[in-house]
Amino acid sequence: MEPFKNKVWLARPLMHGEELEYINVAFKENYITTAGTNISELEKAVAEKIGVKHVVGLSSGTAALHMAIKLAALKIYGTPKQGRGMLFGKKVFCSDVTFDATVNPVVYEDGEPVFIDSEYETWNMDPEALERAFEVYPDVKIIVVAHLYGFPAKIDEIKKIAEEHGAVIVEDAAESIIASYKGKMTGAWCADTGTGILSLNGNKLVTASSGGLLLTNDREAYEKVKKWSTQARESAPWYEHEELGYNYRMSNIIAGIGRGQMLHAEEHVMMKKAIYDRYKDGFKDLPVSMNSYDPVDSKPNFWLSCMIIDKEAMGEHVRSNRIALYRHVKGKTTPTEVLETLAHYNAEGRPIWKPMHMQPYYINNPFITKDGNGRARTNAYIEGCANDVGGDIFDRGLCLPSDINMTEEEQARVIEIVRSCFE
Ligand SMILES: Cc1ncc(COP(=O)(O)O)c(C=O)c1O
Repeated sequence: MEPFKNKVWLARPLMHGEELEYINVAFKENYITTAGTNISELEKAVAEKIGVKHVVGLSSGTAALHMAIKLAALKIYGTPKQGRGMLFGKKVFCSDVTFDATVNPVVYEDGEPVFIDSEYETWNMDPEALERAFEVYPDVKIIVVAHLYGFPAKIDEIKKIAEEHGAVIVEDAAESIIASYKGKMTGAWCADTGTGILSLNGNKLVTASSGGLLLTNDREAYEKVKKWSTQARESAPWYEHEELGYNYRMSNIIAGIGRGQMLHAEEHVMMKKAIYDRYKDGFKDLPVSMNSYDPVDSKPNFWLSCMIIDKEAMGEHVRSNRIALYRHVKGKTTPTEVLETLAHYNAEGRPIWKPMHMQPYYINNPFITKDGNGRARTNAYIEGCANDVGGDIFDRGLCLPSDINMTEEEQARVIEIVRSCFE
């Protein structure tokens, strides 16, 4: 088989034309700045679609997470001393298998992330592990939970546990725009007491090239984020500041792209679902499974199609912090072999997010599994090893090319390439 002439990508944007028209609106109105019709219309469209009262357009999902963390910290711990982050000396429960942008804002504010293990049914934060975490750290009052690859977490259970402990949730729906769980959109679940966020970066289901959105039902929180994100100006004739400000607001040009894309959000989900279904069908006799969800309760946006190799079909591989080595074993394969084979044919896959508890930067942070402390759990004199679901999903899983622009023929070849790894 020849390599693909045109690279098959993991996830590229799909533009429709309206995006450019809305950019032109910004030019016509000469609002080449962080205010204008595109921003207000995008915020309105997102609020309506997700089912929240207020939306703030920001420069990135990471900025939205930072603002969300600050709101939670203000609500629980109040205003900090100058020179100290708002979470100084405080622990925060965080999803473990996710992009580091989910958890970094906790550290921006001098907090300490405590990573909560995942479960196999959605690959997201395990409510049982979260319960254990509250047994170990009963004083924790903030939880950051992500919905991985567009597949909703068991957010109802997580929310119930949070409520029992008086904790506020920051819901990271960066990857899961318009995915819903039990009839409610991700990002809207915790908008009454906490906040949700979305990302519009270049590879997301709905993109604006970059950008983020903060979602809340709380008018005061909304106004606070609008203030903080525009350098925290007080109402005075000059630049008067009583609070620390940020330059985090979304550009009106970028908002034009997002505004145009929102018109096609559902269409994009249908296209992504078709990709997921074709993989599922193409792999039905292989010893793998796809990222899973409950078809009754969960309506994913299918942003990235992923697969996990059955334990019995895993070949041998080792990963250091920088490189991976594998040995082909007949009838078996490894994520590294699949990814390298795809790359050989000019197709782009990606490893699963390396869990945060395994990242060098976070290696000394606590990690809690459904069995309790996830670190230092093995015993040379007792058989068995500790559960580490996130580590296992990282070990055996990978993200498949999920580009919305990929043709059916290209995907059929990708399926063939993946199948060949098991020979
Ligand atoms: C789970 C998750 N959280 C947060 C982010 C950060 O979003 P952004 O890239 O818009 O800053 C991303 C994506 O990039 C993400 O995948």
